[in-house]
Amino acid sequence: MNSKSLTTLEKDPLAQPKSLQQVGLPLELTRTAISADNPQTPEKIFLGQKLFFQRQLSADGTVSCSTCHDPKLAFTDRKATSVGIQGRVGQRNAPTVLNAMYNKTQFWDGRANTLEEQAGFPIVNPSEMGCTSLDAAVAQIAHVKEYQEAFQHAFGHPPNAAHLLRAIASYGRTQMLFDSPFDHFIGGDKNAIDDSAKRGWELFNTQARCNKCHALTETERDTTLFMDNDFHNIGIGIIRHNVVALAGHAEKLISSGDKAAIDRAAIQHDMSVLGRFLVTKQEKDTASFKTPGLRNVLVTAPYFHDGSQETLWDVMDHYNKGDGLHNPWLDEDIQPLALTEDQIYDLVAVLPSLTNASHKKQGVEEFARQRAISRTSRLQRDKARAFGPKPQQPAPLK
Ligand code: HEC
Ligand code: HEC
Repeated sequence: MNSKSLTTLEKDPLAQPKSLQQVGLPLELTRTAISADNPQTPEKIFLGQKLFFQRQLSADGTVSCSTCHDPKLAFTDRKATSVGIQGRVGQRNAPTVLNAMYNKTQFWDGRANTLEEQAGFPIVNPSEMGCTSLDAAVAQIAHVKEYQEAFQHAFGHPPNAAHLLRAIASYGRTQMLFDSPFDHFIGGDKNAIDDSAKRGWELFNTQARCNKCHALTETERDTTLFMDNDFHNIGIGIIRHNVVALAGHAEKLISSGDKAAIDRAAIQHDMSVLGRFLVTKQEKDTASFKTPGLRNVLVTAPYFHDGSQETLWDVMDHYNKGDGLHNPWLDEDIQPLALTEDQIYDLVAVLPSLTNASHKKQGVEEFARQRAISRTSRLQRDKARAFGPKPQQPAPLK
């Protein structure tokens, strides 16, 4: 039981547990994010790290958590939507595991409450790791001596499903990543970010209204996670008529309370667009999704729950026009912003300043890539709407 028994993949510096000594890391939040009934131990974290890379936890031995959450790619797959066993394409974009430990709920629709609960779904989702049950997944590794020992060390028991999920969650709770130029700026180093990013940070909290959702509080500037642990319809991928028919389908499914079936709907079916509605069955939650944190967002493109936007310029163009003309559930905080091109550039500039030093090189390359795309392609840009009045919103259906 030492680092020698980690494979090459697991040894990647980017895959290692992170230090608590990071500029900007919220110590108190970090403490409370560690669940009392699954305390962190080095043995559990070690086991969880091995399991995270273990392809034998999938039906055909080809897919591990790290397939879609690759530490080299800031724990994402850089695909619009994820691909599981046998090339099966899902409906949703893989969020990063970095800082996921701070989320009050997991998944874009919050259908899991803890990292332990979350880890169980991909293992049995037919489009992800495809095992028939968690016990079947455990059986695929339970005969391996190394795992028998590692479970014994961590839990004092042979391998079982509950402990497997605990170990994976414990590893997830070592992946906090702060310490970005922005944190140094907030910490007092006025030169840590450039003037453009400084102007962007002002806009973020004023005219651009980003702080309405990307902040834990609306009353003071929040520099920790850039999310509100809440769900909003911001007009991504919504087609009114589809949504109504789909909501009809989904109601029965939700009433059944079958969480695995809801997971399949979210990953495999068109019902995925219903977002939070899949969990609450409340009309107001139709096509609303969890506000993602913005740390390291430059290196986790493409964007939104369906990976529909390629660059941060596209994201900004979407917000600038206050999307959602035919969308009765659009959040009231989404409205035309009348941002000029220079202001858009400044807002885009503040986001890269949230990249941790370990991804600096990828960040520089990714910024150049997105900048180049934005020079020739701005599919979401609509100046008339961005500078126009807020359109009349259709009434809800009932
Ligand atoms: C086939 C690709 C794939 C595999 C394999 C996979 N995931 Fe994911 N992961 C996703 C996608 C896609 C989502 C978003 C799904 C949704 O919101 O409905 C997600 C969401 C998550 C989240 C929630 C993050 C957030 O911000 O809400 C965590 C944590 C996570 N995965 C960890 C894991 C772990 C641990 C494993 C292995 C047990 C794993 N994933 C296996 C694709 C994958
Ligand atoms: C009304 C709430 C709200 C406001 C205001 C808002 N956001 Fe968001 N943001 C969200 C939600 C919800 C999502 C996910 C939506 C989805 O995928 O369907 C999101 C997604 C994003 C993403 C994509 C992140 C990823 O990992 O895919 C970026 C970047 C972003 N927002 C930046 C901003 C910026 C910059 C502003 C200000 C111009 C802003 N947001 C204003 C709620 C909001």
